[in-house]
Amino acid sequence: MCGIVAYIGTKQAQNLLVEGLKRLEYRGYDSAGIAILDASVSGSRSPHINITRAVGRVSALEDRLEQIGGLRGTLGLAHTRWATHGGVCEANAHPHKDDKSGIYLVHNGIIENYSALKIYLEEKGHKFTSETDTEVLSMLIGELYEGDLEAAVQGALREVTGAYAIAVICDKEPDTLVVARKGSPLIVGVGDKEFVVASDASAIVAHTTQAVTLDDYNVVKITRDGFRTSDIHNATVSHKVTQLELDLDAIELGDYSHYMLKEINEQPRSLRNCFRGRIDQREGKIVLGGLTTYAKELVKARRIILTGQGTALHAAMIGEYIIEDLAKVPAVAEYASEFRYRNPIIEDGTIVVAVSQSGETADTLAALYEARDRGALSLGVVNVVGSTISRDTDAGVYLRVGPEIGVASTKAFTGQVAVLTMIALFMARRRFMSADQCADLLKVLDTIPEKIERILEQDDVVRKVTQKYVERDNWLFLGRGYNYPTALEGALKLKEISYIHAEGMPAAEMKHGPIALINEGMPAVFIANRGRQYDKVMSNIAEVRARGGHVIAVATEGDEQIKNHCQDVLYVPEVPECLSPMLTVIPLQLMAYHAAVMRGHDVDKPRNLAKSVTVE
Ligand code: M6R
Repeated sequence: MCGIVAYIGTKQAQNLLVEGLKRLEYRGYDSAGIAILDASVSGSRSPHINITRAVGRVSALEDRLEQIGGLRGTLGLAHTRWATHGGVCEANAHPHKDDKSGIYLVHNGIIENYSALKIYLEEKGHKFTSETDTEVLSMLIGELYEGDLEAAVQGALREVTGAYAIAVICDKEPDTLVVARKGSPLIVGVGDKEFVVASDASAIVAHTTQAVTLDDYNVVKITRDGFRTSDIHNATVSHKVTQLELDLDAIELGDYSHYMLKEINEQPRSLRNCFRGRIDQREGKIVLGGLTTYAKELVKARRIILTGQGTALHAAMIGEYIIEDLAKVPAVAEYASEFRYRNPIIEDGTIVVAVSQSGETADTLAALYEARDRGALSLGVVNVVGSTISRDTDAGVYLRVGPEIGVASTKAFTGQVAVLTMIALFMARRRFMSADQCADLLKVLDTIPEKIERILEQDDVVRKVTQKYVERDNWLFLGRGYNYPTALEGALKLKEISYIHAEGMPAAEMKHGPIALINEGMPAVFIANRGRQYDKVMSNIAEVRARGGHVIAVATEGDEQIKNHCQDVLYVPEVPECLSPMLTVIPLQLMAYHAAVMRGHDVDKPRNLAKSVTVE
């Protein structure tokens, strides 16, 4: 979603801000803008702020900057906007300003009471030039400005409801940057007489790894000499400078053509990292430092609610199956967006698990708070260290798969499934599972990374199969049991980057309606690895074939028989069924990637999508 970068220091801000915006491009956006305070004073000219905005990519903004000869100054703001209020046009792009006070602002989030505030401000004579809620906030700060930017920001934030991360400058205060957050992430990178503020650590780490991650209602006044953190009522708040755990190399593309391809190929390594120190073969148990304090609650849990959105929800669904299967605790996976609004019943012994790559998804956060406020113990299964979910849960387990830049989630999915599998085993071993039984599964779990390597070696086969069907506009993805969520994930991957219509469903559900869609040559991808329901899946395959559909099966190595029933087969190594989704999803990720490339789409920046959905 929207991205913020702001700078105050001694260097020229423009290039630094533009570079920062490029690091945030992966989050998804549709326009970009920059404002820099030129502090040079000559004749009647006093410090002033220059602004440039452009619709489209950051490169379009760069072209604009080049045309006007660039912006000079060592204090500035920049933004990538993902439209919420008002269409995609230059007038709606950030920064927004209040001419009277000389205040410029960039904003992530949504100001919910902006309509009422707008009426109030219009009565005060403010003239609006955009349809955004952000411009309302800039004018409100301007209205309250009486020579103290920090006080004006605090005053305005006391009046607004909604979510925000903001950065604000004023031409009358050339040595001040004010930033604040509520419900939308913001990090202050602390350098030597310079500060880089961003909504995402990736825009900061090239400059400094020392940083303060803001909490809700923090307002930070930054000058070149230091900074002060307060709340919206101006009470001083203590802050902690910590080390950002983000390696610059990890966010570089390297030799790959796309981040998605890089991240698909990283999965053997990312899963080794995820498992490191957590699989204790000798004792036949899982070690999860983040959960030991709550081991008793997990053992006694009466119900586990797993929640998330998109890919994270699909991983949560696999978590539901594996927790019930291995730990024998009732579990349910539910869209966070639905859970939060349906007045959920939380009984004693309920644990809610929020699954999220970013740890910032608005719906997942809201569901988490809803469950927590009703008395559930809350756990996070999150990738981004220090993210809101990781901080607002009682305990949790990090994925440790490294930064995921591609909008289409790949290595986070396998990381989420791996962590949920480990949580299931952590609970199972403390409940009913014997050390031997557990050790048997752990032995296989430990080999998942090398098995993924073997699947990745077949990339060429996957590409050729994809080529056969890439012109088809409707696909089905079908699976049963553990691989029903994998089917959903395969369909989501294909549609979000190749814009092909794809539906995932339980294979048995097909007969209850979707079978009507099947026509000559329609691709139907079956996850048909060996398992409890193999024969039933084979019957479903026959039903599709009988209606002219073309079947691509993801099958178990050595299953030669299946070739007689399908047009194409993609093999994965054999593992116990409960561990199979980490393997069966790999050919589906590759297939979606190749289809998108063949169709000429921008794989890492799919249309209309944002990496992290921080608004409802
Ligand atoms: O950051 P999160 O894991 O909470 O994000 C949830 C979804 O928005 C996300 O998984 C989305 O569905 C993926 N980009 C799909 O590839």
